[in-house]
Amino acid sequence: MKPIWTGALQSSLSFFFSFDLLAYLCRLMEELLKQIKDYRAEIEAFNASDDKAVEEFRIKWLGTKGLVKNLMGEMKNVSHEKKKEFGQILNEFKQLTESKYEELKLLTSNFKPQTSNLDLTLPGDTIPVGSRHPISLMTNRIISIFQRLGFAVAEGPEIEDDWHNFTALNLPEHHPARDMQDTFYVQQNPDWLLRTHTSNIQIREMQKGKLPIRIICPGRVYRNETVSARSHCFFHQVEGLYIDENVSFADLKQTLYFFAKEMYGSDVKIRFRPSYFPFTEPSAEMDISCMLCKGVGCNVCKKTGWLEILGSGMVHPNVLSNCGIDPNKYTGFAFGMGIERPALLKYGINDIRLFSENDVRFLKQFTSAV
Ligand code: DAH
Repeated sequence: MKPIWTGALQSSLSFFFSFDLLAYLCRLMEELLKQIKDYRAEIEAFNASDDKAVEEFRIKWLGTKGLVKNLMGEMKNVSHEKKKEFGQILNEFKQLTESKYEELKLLTSNFKPQTSNLDLTLPGDTIPVGSRHPISLMTNRIISIFQRLGFAVAEGPEIEDDWHNFTALNLPEHHPARDMQDTFYVQQNPDWLLRTHTSNIQIREMQKGKLPIRIICPGRVYRNETVSARSHCFFHQVEGLYIDENVSFADLKQTLYFFAKEMYGSDVKIRFRPSYFPFTEPSAEMDISCMLCKGVGCNVCKKTGWLEILGSGMVHPNVLSNCGIDPNKYTGFAFGMGIERPALLKYGINDIRLFSENDVRFLKQFTSAV
């Protein structure tokens, strides 16, 4: 005897494999494919002009209750053999929807700058141009003249030991000439001080032992002096040194003549006066004719018609030997000048303190100076 359920199973199985079912599934698949085709067309034609429309697009197609999810749900109704094919079509459709959404987001965000107040045609902010300090202008001018004669720039420390600032320059301890250059001591025994002149650079260069030497040494120097309109406890110098075989006083004169004419004009008159510096022998001070009164005599030149501009001389043999240079083989000349005095004269400034007060009203007057 057959069990009761066998007949029911037989009839449902026969329905399952009947043509009716197959036809139904085929129709369903066709409908779904047509539906997807229509959706594709709708999505491709869609445009959004603002964020709101993009968000509506997302909710309609990609939201949790959106049409893409709906179609996914139809997967279970698709016949076993067609599942793979339908799955692929569905995936492609999902990708199309997602990339359309990304594209819409990008487009609407690109629209944003057009609606903001940013005006790209406005002119930029001007950057204020600074000015060179008159001391730098003067220093650069002096350097450029000597550079044309083959002098190279050398620099050295402002805090110096006693030996480089005094002793090596033939100014031993207790030498009376030290009194003229009293300075500020950073430390005593051993002595470290603020250099009184840029001559320490000469010593440091000579110690290197590379000859010939032809250098120009700009820098700041210090003296223990009362600050007034005429003098300060710090100022600037440019020093020169030339050492080689057969360097003579004639070379010194010729070099400084050239400098004076380039600096103060070709009609300037020059004179040398014998002088004394412990580090040079013979020594001379160089004067130029006063450019304000043309040598007639005025308050600036103290009615003499002459202005003292630098000290100079032949390097003392003791200085050469202190630095390990043979004075029987080599000779040389040196010179040194302050920068503040020529700058006062050139720019018509009557108080040396203006150089270090950092008053912008003073400094900006040199904006266009070269
Ligand atoms: N060092 C000197 C000073 O400060 C200036 C000077 C004079 C420098 C003669 C030199 C020189 O090199 O030869 O007063």
